[in-house]
Amino acid sequence: MSENQFTPRVFSGIQPSGDLHLGNYLGALKRFADAQEQGVQSIYCMVDLHAITVWQDPADLKKSTRELCAGFIAAGIDPEKSILINQSQVPEHAQLAWVFNCVARMGWMGRMTQWKDKAGKNAEAASLGLFAYPALMAADILIYHATHVPVGEDQKQHLELTRDIAAKFNHDYDVDFFPLVEPVIEGAATRVMSLRDGSKKMSKSDPSPASRINLTDDADTIAKKIRKAKTDPDALPSEADGLKDRPEARNLVNIYAALSDQTVDQVLAEVGGQQFGTFKPALADLAVAKMGPITAEMSRLMADEVEIDRILARGAEQAREITAPILKRTYEIIGMVGA
Ligand code: TRP
Repeated sequence: MSENQFTPRVFSGIQPSGDLHLGNYLGALKRFADAQEQGVQSIYCMVDLHAITVWQDPADLKKSTRELCAGFIAAGIDPEKSILINQSQVPEHAQLAWVFNCVARMGWMGRMTQWKDKAGKNAEAASLGLFAYPALMAADILIYHATHVPVGEDQKQHLELTRDIAAKFNHDYDVDFFPLVEPVIEGAATRVMSLRDGSKKMSKSDPSPASRINLTDDADTIAKKIRKAKTDPDALPSEADGLKDRPEARNLVNIYAALSDQTVDQVLAEVGGQQFGTFKPALADLAVAKMGPITAEMSRLMADEVEIDRILARGAEQAREITAPILKRTYEIIGMVGA
């Protein structure tokens, strides 16, 4: 089956779960903004329908969705260049998801590690939506015939399932309709770890606020958190090999590299031999210089709900120009009257 007939199109999604941090920025938002400059049509989505697979307070969900939209824009996603949407505002996602619920097999879903982790021991009490989560994710992607999907390593299995769903649909209906997507997996360099423990991912659920830099932190707070970040007593090495078994040192160097658009080796060539007493203030300055404008823009946007809602309404309109014909054709293929 040829995948080449499909024009390249990028799609990715982020859950609006609140408290965006540096890990979200360097791991996802900044990469999306960089990719946008390569001229490939890109669609970025706040996946509110995925969020409600576990309980969400309605007021919090609204706030987190708008905050995520502000985060996308502040990070450099330009609604004039990319399509920025909130999932529930483009109904074709959920409509195609139903079709995929009927294509995917229970066994496939049951093997998803994220399902097993999230459902835990009490799968009986998990929502049916949590089980079907990956079919909705496949629909998010395939309702655009997207070909490239930038995600973290933890989403790789879901993308393989997306390929399986596309392949089974194409096979069952004897068509070549849905593309087999290419995962674009983020490298370790963009995985930001906790500032308190270099072996744990930076996370909004870490009880210590000092473990992460939030996209709503002001310059002082950013600088303070970096100055207080955990380190070891040794000087920085001049080559990446020297960061082995030094998770905190590696994390700070990674952050420096990502913020300055350099490789780790380039950074170490510059700062190798420095003590943290010298390196941390330099990193704090860099972080403030790069993050300051983003956090300021986020605050500005978040104070302007009307503007955000207008952007999302327009994004949904643009998106539906793509999704409506693809859903119609899907219904035709399946044999739905009226399509
Ligand atoms: N499941 C993804 C995550 O938790 C979010 C997501 C939903 C997504 N739909 C998507 C990512 C489609 C990429 C493409 O990170």
